[in-house]
Amino acid sequence: MSPPALLRYDGRGRRDLVPTVEWKDGEVVLIDQRRLPDEQVLLRCRDHHQVAAAIKGMAIRGAPAIGVAAGFGIALGMSNASSEGEELRSELDRICAELAATRPTAVNLFWAIARMRRRFEAEIDRGGAPLRRALLEEALAMQAEDLEACRRMGDLGAELVPPGARLLTHCNAGALATAGYGTALGVIRSAARQGKVARVFADETRPYLQGARLTAWELAQDGIATTLIADSTAGHLMARGEVDAVVVGADRIAANGDVANKIGTYTLAVLARESRLPFYVVAPVSTIDLATPSGDAIPIEERPAEEVTHHGGRRMAPEGVAVRNPAFDVTPHRYVTAIVTERGIARPPYAESLARLAGLPFNAEDAEKARKV
Ligand code: MRU
Repeated sequence: MSPPALLRYDGRGRRDLVPTVEWKDGEVVLIDQRRLPDEQVLLRCRDHHQVAAAIKGMAIRGAPAIGVAAGFGIALGMSNASSEGEELRSELDRICAELAATRPTAVNLFWAIARMRRRFEAEIDRGGAPLRRALLEEALAMQAEDLEACRRMGDLGAELVPPGARLLTHCNAGALATAGYGTALGVIRSAARQGKVARVFADETRPYLQGARLTAWELAQDGIATTLIADSTAGHLMARGEVDAVVVGADRIAANGDVANKIGTYTLAVLARESRLPFYVVAPVSTIDLATPSGDAIPIEERPAEEVTHHGGRRMAPEGVAVRNPAFDVTPHRYVTAIVTERGIARPPYAESLARLAGLPFNAEDAEKARKV
């Protein structure tokens, strides 16, 4: 049987672009990433419980996409709520608490919740339909800003890519992980458009296979030459001089520049240092968490053992074996060559360069409040 018609994800206003997540006819609609690349199925969320379940269950994933989905989830939950005034504020607290409990590492989730709460407080006196409309506007603005940020990061980051580059990436930091275009894959897209990318090595990204299922698929849509590798192959290729730079996304960047990203990223950074290769992180300022001083304080999500013991529903390991499945690791800032944001490229010392770039809308106090809801 032939595969389903393929979607375009390059985010440059193509007519066939399908957004990762969108607001449509009073519902939050997202492409169910658990079904890719075999099937392109849209998931329609009619209440915020369904949005929370979609985030927790990985139907939508990737730090910026999680933030945008949470924004829509709050707008949806509030549009379904019939109360007003203090009761409505209590309802907002409940909705935010449910969304905040989905995934702990990606700070964009808490950033988005804090931003929606600020808008609620600014509009509470209007009440009724105007308040609900304002919340939807805020979520739509976050979506549009994220897409714009990705395009900007792509164009800025492409300047770091030499002609004929062979780039290695990990997990999926693409259009599917953002409102569109991607962070690390945004840089790769922009550089490819400039004719500078000879090849992308995509780590399969055990155990959830975001690289094999999503990145390889996304890059194929754009006709970018891609080679899928097992995670354990990366060091071998670097040592043989087959890679020119590593480009990854981030789930949270601490104030000192330590980077939490998909498990396996730290290993790549150490390998890149050994082979004297640049290691670039690409993330919007909504991923910078100035309230977290260093990587030690970043909460790391532990995911179910079955993701490691099973593949495609089939057991691959002996029953009862002990399993650790941290979904993220922390790369110390000393391994990071540069951090590309939509406001510019941060270089060491990151404590200074990140503070200057992040220099708020996002503020530490709001992030702290969001984390406690
Ligand atoms: O567990 P996931 O798939 O949500 O993890 C995603 C990543 O680690 C990405 O690299 C990160 O969110 C950056 S996405 C632009």
